[in-house]
Amino acid sequence: MVENTKKSNDQIILDHYKKVASNHTTDLNCTIQDPRIREAEVQFIVKSVENFVENSSKDLKKLNVIDLGCGNGYLLSVLREKFPDLNLFGIEFTPELFDIAKNRNLYNTRIIQGDIRRSINDFNDDNEYSFDIIISERVIINILDHKEQRQALTLIKNNLEDDGVYIQVESYFEPLVNLNRARKEMALTSIEPSKHNKFLNRYMIGFMRDRLGLCEVESSIQTNFLSTYFFLSRVFHQVTRPPGGKVKYSHMVDFLTEGIGPGIGNYSPILFKVFKKFTPTYSKSEPRFQK
Ligand SMILES: C[S@@+](CC[C@H](N)C(=O)[O-])C[C@H]1O[C@@H](n2cnc3c(N)ncnc32)[C@H](O)[C@@H]1O
Repeated sequence: MVENTKKSNDQIILDHYKKVASNHTTDLNCTIQDPRIREAEVQFIVKSVENFVENSSKDLKKLNVIDLGCGNGYLLSVLREKFPDLNLFGIEFTPELFDIAKNRNLYNTRIIQGDIRRSINDFNDDNEYSFDIIISERVIINILDHKEQRQALTLIKNNLEDDGVYIQVESYFEPLVNLNRARKEMALTSIEPSKHNKFLNRYMIGFMRDRLGLCEVESSIQTNFLSTYFFLSRVFHQVTRPPGGKVKYSHMVDFLTEGIGPGIGNYSPILFKVFKKFTPTYSKSEPRFQK
């Protein structure tokens, strides 16, 4: 019974991304339709890698960076161009996307087909890699079971260097509730997560902190960076659009987002986070985690 559920969850993911692969091949918006969101995600990840590299005392040629669920390899291609010295790695579950990523033939980039619930360190050679930077961009939410999400997060912690960072772009449930409250006030229907996504929640942050010792640290771009854009595009635009008006990606939303500035409120389910490893200390008299 459990096995059956698992198979059907996996099948949902494989079917969805097979279709995505055939429609978009190497595009920036291969795995997300909204280009504004994708651009912001990539900007955040690049800036966070840049921050790490600038502050690291290690030789850049020795830094290992992995994109979990690397899709068609778009993000890896951007990182390859911006950081020619880093060793890049990618894992992808969907065969059709893995093929596209692999066929990019990116320099010094190892890509394997695999499942981040089982292993993130199985690169078909004799080396045991550990990673200075681990990136997840809407892939933990593709694991449609919270227990299996925790499994993947545990592997992230186990494969992260002690002074490394985990750069996370994932969707959270609480801001979605907030967004839907704002929509309801305007008589708009609720937005539900797609069937290929299971959103994280604040308990997952608690699990990462208390069980794994992965604690959120300040990031280069604010966590709720996309909040203004989500509010304007998913509430304001919907209310003000006249019949026949542009349905998505309007000048009006771009204009207002720029004017108001990013990160107002808590309306973006997609959050930008950076985590570092801390050593858990369980003594009652001390704070639970120390650097
Ligand atoms: C939003 S996309 C990531 C985009 C990617 N960073 C890029 O540059 O295109 C999420 C990817 O995770 C993959 N995925 C889903 N579940 C996975 C799993 N358990 N292990 C590895 N990859 C997975 C999907 O096939 C999909 O390509």
